Amino acid sequence: MSSYIQDQYPRASSPLIASAAMGGFSGPALATAVSRAGGIGCLLKIDNIKTANPSTLPIGVGFLLFAVSLDEAIAVISRHLPAIIWLACPADERDFETWSNAVRKAAPASKIWIQVASVAVALRVASACSPDVLIMQGAHAGGHGPFPGSGIVSLVPETRDALDREGFSKIAIFAAGGIGDGRGVAAALACGADGVVMGTRFLASSEVDMPAEDFREAVLEMSDGGVSTARSNVFDELTGRNIWPSQYDGRAIAGASYKDFNSGTSLAEAQSRYANAVKEAHKGYGGEVRAAVELKPEGEIVKECRELARLYLDRVIKSL
Ligand SMILES: Cc1cc2nc3c(=O)[nH]c(=O)nc-3n(C[C@H](O)[C@H](O)[C@H](O)COP(=O)(O)O)c2cc1C
Repeated sequence: MSSYIQDQYPRASSPLIASAAMGGFSGPALATAVSRAGGIGCLLKIDNIKTANPSTLPIGVGFLLFAVSLDEAIAVISRHLPAIIWLACPADERDFETWSNAVRKAAPASKIWIQVASVAVALRVASACSPDVLIMQGAHAGGHGPFPGSGIVSLVPETRDALDREGFSKIAIFAAGGIGDGRGVAAALACGADGVVMGTRFLASSEVDMPAEDFREAVLEMSDGGVSTARSNVFDELTGRNIWPSQYDGRAIAGASYKDFNSGTSLAEAQSRYANAVKEAHKGYGGEVRAAVELKPEGEIVKECRELARLYLDRVIKSL
């Protein structure tokens, strides 16, 4: 871990693993367990925090900018002073700057992490917002993100070079998207990331908030993520109430609805089948999940990923 990261997050262990702020999934139990295991846990909703004090534990609180009013967010931030404020998905990219300025005023000691998905946006955000961390979200990430995008193996090195070239060497990069275990962590570090963010892997942890038990089963059953998941905005269209700005889509299980739609079923028909299926159960008709993994407590996942990353990096070095 770079000394910069060690200075900024002295309670975190190396390599630095953060759990993603995931709407509806990452609550205080997940964030606390990840931070206690030497990672950095992030949550999306800050209400009802009873298990942790976000200003004393290195816990992050995420905001989906397009969906939240800045005034409400600042009221919450001022009350709780979270160690890390995670900003993602603005309706307009310039909102990152407005939010960063307001957050800095309300919570000067909090670190600002901003999630983006391209080199160009990373450079503009670096210049306008001076974030502490840029989370570079690769195209394989679960959940929502801007499209198009590229994988972290090309995105992270290119962004690092561009930031260094333009005088932003102090901004740390965390890699997000497709990292499922310590080997992925090792790969991201080798690409120049200062830390990693994992989302999907934590969906198969015992303390994650799940909207329904069959969501968890679906995550555990999945394999071969490249074909069993897909990026599309049809997942958001299924309910008939898509609130997402048009520059975002989402990666989810390529379930029955996706397959129907992709093979020519009209959106209206797919929506109607979805509505019927939801009445019965969630299975096969939704869920932003991916990857074949084993159910484990979050803390164990963090420790195991850390150890495996060290092991693999060591093995690679010895093999050279
Ligand atoms: C179920 C789920 C929900 C997510 N919700 C959010 C969110 O509310 N805000 C956000 O910034 N990112 C969200 N993400 C994206 C993550 O921040 C992160 O980019 C992604 O999980 C990394 O890829 P991975 O899932 O392959 O680890 C979500 C991801 C998943 C899997």
